[in-house]
Order: sequence, then structure tokens, then C-alpha cells
Amino acid sequence: MRIDVLTLFPEVIEPFCGSSIIGRARRGGLVTIRTTNIRDFATDRHKSVDDRPFGGGPGMVMMCPPLFAAVEKVESEDPAPATRVLLCPQGEPFTQAIARELAAQQRLLLICGHYEGFDERIRLGLAPREISIGDYVLSGGEAAALVLIDAVVRLLPGALGDEESTTEESFSAGLLEYPHYTRPREFRGMGVPDVLLNGDHARIEQWRRQEAVRRTRERRPDLLTEFDAGPPGGGPES
Ligand code: ADE
Repeated sequence: MRIDVLTLFPEVIEPFCGSSIIGRARRGGLVTIRTTNIRDFATDRHKSVDDRPFGGGPGMVMMCPPLFAAVEKVESEDPAPATRVLLCPQGEPFTQAIARELAAQQRLLLICGHYEGFDERIRLGLAPREISIGDYVLSGGEAAALVLIDAVVRLLPGALGDEESTTEESFSAGLLEYPHYTRPREFRGMGVPDVLLNGDHARIEQWRRQEAVRRTRERRPDLLTEFDAGPPGGGPES
């Protein structure tokens, strides 16, 4: 997979994408991540990338010409068609299902804005998929792009070791994670549930599943499908 990030702040993107699982995936050749500074495509002597809004009002608006030029240049570097993604609070809410869809693409082009917003003709002319990482307003799209890159790259085949990948499976099943414990067995008066210590793997699996359902029902009932929720009023799994 190739991911291009178009941004005014490449220095924010680079260190994150060189570390941990993403860094390892890059070094292993699973993903190529490139940043492009939109300002390099500004045409005036002030290197402008934004301007005041027509009609007045507060803030600055990201201009079309530098961004279109950057998209066209980056896309021409590789014949594989890119899925264009615009990070913005008005976009569709980012989910694990969208991460899986994007992980199946050959090429992503992520566009990070700053300022009050984008000139509407960026939406019309580039027809990107618009994605939001939550109902709050960030000062720019970079943090959102990093969230998206992290969620997508860890899904690429080979990005996670065997031990790491089991975590993914349990969220994919639509439930929150069950509680985990490691050594020491006793810490500040807090023990470990007996079921985890007796080596009965069938019982352990059953307990983990029950705890995952319980935790999901308590914290995120909206995630429970009818199947997971069990009988109305709560059955043995409630
Ligand atoms: N840019 C600013 N806020 C954002 C958000 N919540 N999601 C994605 N991009 C953004």
C-alpha cells in the first residue's frame, strides 16, 4: 500500500509514522508513506495557501490552486489510482469497518486542512471521501490522519505479530475487550480471577466472552447486536 499525506505540517506526520508498528511495517515494505507540503505548490511570492472568505466572516479558508496542484502532482507519481480522503469534522464518522475498507485499497491520499475550512470547490472538484474522527474540532487534519493511518496500517497482512493480532479479532467481533491480567498475581490487595489461573481453557474462553459482553453492555450498549445482547432482561450472559 502507498499512503500520501498532503499537509502544511509534514514534520507532525513523519515521527509518528517512523515508530512502533507503523515504522516496522514501513521498514518491512508493507506500506510506503510519503508527506507532501501543500505550501510547496503555492504560486504567489507569499506562498499563500489560504485566504479570507468571500462574503466576510471570521477565519481563513484553504484555497483551491495549491491543493489541486499538489494532488495532481502526487497522483501522477504512481499509476495506481488513489482513494482520496479529506479529514474534516463534517465527514462520515471513522469506524473499524471503514479502516478495514481503506486497508483493502492500493493507495490512499490523505488531505489535511487547517484554518476555518476548505473552499467548497475542493469537495466538488476532488470528490474525496470525507472522514471525521469524532464530534469535536481539531485545529487541523494531521492528528486525524495519524489516527486513520494507525488504524489502517495495523490491519495490513503481516503488520502485527501473532500475539498482537488477537486483540484485533476481539474488537472485530463487535465487543469491547475482556479484562487482562499479568504478573504479579497479587498487587496491593488486588488478586486475579481464579478462572484464569486453573488452566481450563474452555472455561477461560467462556469467562472472557462473558466479561466482554458485560463490559460492552455497561459501557457501549450501542455496539451490541441482538445476537450478542442475549435474551431481553438479561440471560446468563448478562
Ligand atoms: N479536522 C478538524 N477536526 C477534525 C475531526 N474531528 N476529524 C477529522 N478531521 C478534522
